[in-house]
Formats: sequence, structure tokens, C-alpha cells
Amino acid sequence: KGELPLKGIKALVTSGPTHEPIDPVRYLANRSSGKQGYAIATALARLGAETVLVSGPTNLSPPPGVTVKNVETAREMLAACEASLPVDVAVCAAAVADWRVDIDATQKIKKEPGASTPELRLVENPDILATISHLTTNRPSLVVGFAAETEKVIEHAVAKRARKGCDWIVANDVSPETGVMGGELNTVHLITRDGQEDWPLLPKQAVAERLARRILAHFTDRDKN
Ligand code: C5P
Repeated sequence: KGELPLKGIKALVTSGPTHEPIDPVRYLANRSSGKQGYAIATALARLGAETVLVSGPTNLSPPPGVTVKNVETAREMLAACEASLPVDVAVCAAAVADWRVDIDATQKIKKEPGASTPELRLVENPDILATISHLTTNRPSLVVGFAAETEKVIEHAVAKRARKGCDWIVANDVSPETGVMGGELNTVHLITRDGQEDWPLLPKQAVAERLARRILAHFTDRDKN
């Protein structure tokens, strides 16, 4: 162990947005840089975890020592996650589009003069965090989700942890006065079954390193029992 205390642990991280095609040239997406998820994958790999990063489209370089699986849509992201199992820990940091467009548009939708504007019908995407959390075989022993909240941060995150069925929620206070949105710093609260930890205002990379250390402590304590 020593310098690579997570050696022997397998980790799965989701990151980035998903892109849901409208037609071959257009898509729906969430705003997400992917930075927090890439930082978490980097931190886990640096502690020695065998790390798979399932990433939606981002401008980021693959982190060293991490296996990156690039995907576009939520359904591809779920399939890539399932193909990466079994793992010991899954961290779902991706900003998955909640809906996709219910069309099979293999050709570009044309803007014809005088024609009515197209209407998009949306259907719900799979919830990757909830799906992984509720697996009956191959469920990771630790599943971590994220929650960006603008009010009643703890209350909403506690409810989300129960609803998704995950073990931990990293709750992110993104109310405008925090300046978190688009910034480099983050204030988070770690919600577990046993309660809440309030972390100080930290750079996103430091949040990732602290989370990786906290994951290490989880497996170290487990091995002691
Ligand atoms: O429900 P909400 O989107 O706020 O939940 C956020 C958490 O759920 C994040 O960890 C996110 O990665 C995960 N999620 C997911 N698949 C979805 C929607 C959210 O994995 N379709």
C-alpha cells in the first residue's frame, strides 16, 4: 500500500454533460465543463485506484492513468457504466440530460419557407445514479452522487440521497451569492447515512482530493471490521 493506498480498488466516475440528438446536426444538453468529475477521477487514480471515467463531451484532456470511455447520450453513458462493472466505488458527477428527444431523425430537419416550426417531444432518460444504486447484482459497495441546490441545501440533499438510493451525496450550494457557478471554488456538504459533514470553501481540485481521501477512509475502515 503506502503511496498507492487505493491499489486493488476499482473506481467508476461519470462526468460532463450528455448530448441528446435532435437530428444529425443539433442536440439538447446541460451546461457542464466536466471539471469536477475529471478532478475526482484524477485524484482516485493518483491514490492507486483502477479508474474508469465515463465522459460526455468536454474540452478536457484525458487524466493520466485513467481509462476514459467517451460517450454522447445518457443511454450510451449508462451502457458504458454497466460495461465497466463490477467496481468498488462509483461516483456519478455527470450532468445527465433528464430528457431526450423522442424522434428518429436520421436526416437534418429542414427549415422550409412558410412551414410550421418543429415540435420536440421529450421522453425521460435513464437515471444512471439511481440505476447503479439499485442494482441487485454487481452493486458497488459505495455509490456517491452529487446534488446542486440553490436553497434548503441539506434538506434537499438528504431527500435526494434516499430517493436515488446512493450511499453518499455531495451537496453543492450553487445559490448565486456563493459564486460557485462557473467559478473555481466550491462549498460542499457530504451527506451520509450517519449525518452531514460541512467542508470549507475549497478549489474544485481540493474537493476532489478530499473526496478521494474520504473514499479511502471508507475502504480502510471497512477492511478493519
Ligand atoms: O436529480 P438530479 O439530477 O439533481 O441528481 C443529481 C445526481 O444524479 C448527480 O450525481 C447526477 O450525476 C445523477 N444523475 C444521473 N442520471 C440522470 C440524472 C442525474 O446519474 N439521468
